[in-house]
Amino acid sequence: MKKKNVFICEVCGYTTPKWLGRCPQCEEWDTFREMEVKKEKKKKSTMTIKMFSELEGEKEERTKTEIEEFDRVMGGGLVVGTQVLVGGEPGIGKSTLMLQIADAFSKRGKKVLYVSGEESLTQIKMRAKRIGFSGENVFFSSETEVEVVEEGLEKINPSVAIFDSLQTMKISEIPSLPGTPSQLKEVTQRLTRFCKMNGISGFFLAHVTKEGIIAGPRLVEHIVDTVLYLEGERHTSLRILRSIKNRFGSTNEVGIFEMEEGGLREVKNTSSFFISESTLDSPGSVAFPHIEGNRVFFLEIQALTSYTPFGTPRRVSMGVDYNRVSILLAVLENKLGVDLKTRDVFVNVVGGIFIKDPSADLPVLLAVISSLKNKKIGPKIVAFGEIGLTGEVRRVAGTEKRLLEAKKLGFEIAIVPPLEKTKKLDIEIKEVKNVQEAVEFVFG
Ligand code: TYD
Ligand code: MG
Repeated sequence: MKKKNVFICEVCGYTTPKWLGRCPQCEEWDTFREMEVKKEKKKKSTMTIKMFSELEGEKEERTKTEIEEFDRVMGGGLVVGTQVLVGGEPGIGKSTLMLQIADAFSKRGKKVLYVSGEESLTQIKMRAKRIGFSGENVFFSSETEVEVVEEGLEKINPSVAIFDSLQTMKISEIPSLPGTPSQLKEVTQRLTRFCKMNGISGFFLAHVTKEGIIAGPRLVEHIVDTVLYLEGERHTSLRILRSIKNRFGSTNEVGIFEMEEGGLREVKNTSSFFISESTLDSPGSVAFPHIEGNRVFFLEIQALTSYTPFGTPRRVSMGVDYNRVSILLAVLENKLGVDLKTRDVFVNVVGGIFIKDPSADLPVLLAVISSLKNKKIGPKIVAFGEIGLTGEVRRVAGTEKRLLEAKKLGFEIAIVPPLEKTKKLDIEIKEVKNVQEAVEFVFG
């Protein structure tokens, strides 16, 4: 092959395939020198390629904490060397949860390093007392510089490391402040890599922040293996641990806890946790079998309507989407001829759970009518189903699971969307095609 030469300007580095008297870039005269272009030898490929049959299956070694609600969310225990992000609003209980988990690992003979940049070691000691922490194998540090933390990890060589929180940690070479997006990403990348290489399971705590100012956990979700969020309303005691990403298990599971004086307590029997017969026995209230992950919870949906002589009536919804409630009220006015122009409407889900899926449409609608008519639905009835704009009641996921659980809890009648196949269950099933049928059945 013919050798290809180029001419390069010795002053500014401009290159051209043809010799030029004057450089068009730096405008100097007679500066071009001829250079031979060496063709780079193609490197031999070093990429390792294997056939499927040659791949070795990963031997998953799992450690259980025996905090069942946590183990289940993790997919049956912590896979050794997993990197876990734990997000949640400030004050929701992330540090409390992790301290309890540290204690649980310690009891199983695992060495844990708890790095707390968020709180002083005295504060941690106070919290530890409160939750009855014994933690013989747990070491603490309030170091926030990643380089120093890595040295500590090397020295102690723990099985589990907890970083509380990512927003307080920093790499000194990076000029930006702790908690900024660049620090957050670099810190997470570097610590996860370090932990992974050393077989350490890392837990990275991060505050969910109101947009702006400091960066939140969303920014680093892609870096870790598992992403957990601890959720709940701060003024109620209920806490839900949810996994939204898990390389080693399903993301369908939730863990339910209650924040008490002595830390987070597991709630094992969730189905009847949120309902009480006495309030279900009054107008404006109905039971709803809610599915969260793989579990059914019975929630009490309440509505209150009251007369208002003033201009625009109020619509307030807590625990269900405001827009869904608006749609339901429009269906009520349009399909059932109910006049709500002079009525304030309040809808509430008892217990601090937010229902995101539309299967609560039917019970919400029934609760509103129950309040309007001042007629109770009763504690033995459950209802679920999505409501469409034409007033039709639509099928939702998990029908059989909801019905089975309703039967177990002693409910007698279930008002449901038309079923695909009717199974013999020891509970009276009333299939309703539209809102008119549902209202007719319940209120006659
Ligand atoms: P914390 O774990 O500090 O939240 P985070 O780390 O997510 O910011 O939890 C703080 C709240 O939990 C605080 O308001 C007090 C409450 N709490 C209890 O109710 N009981 C307890 O045993 C503990 C340790 C905390
Ligand atoms: Mg904290």
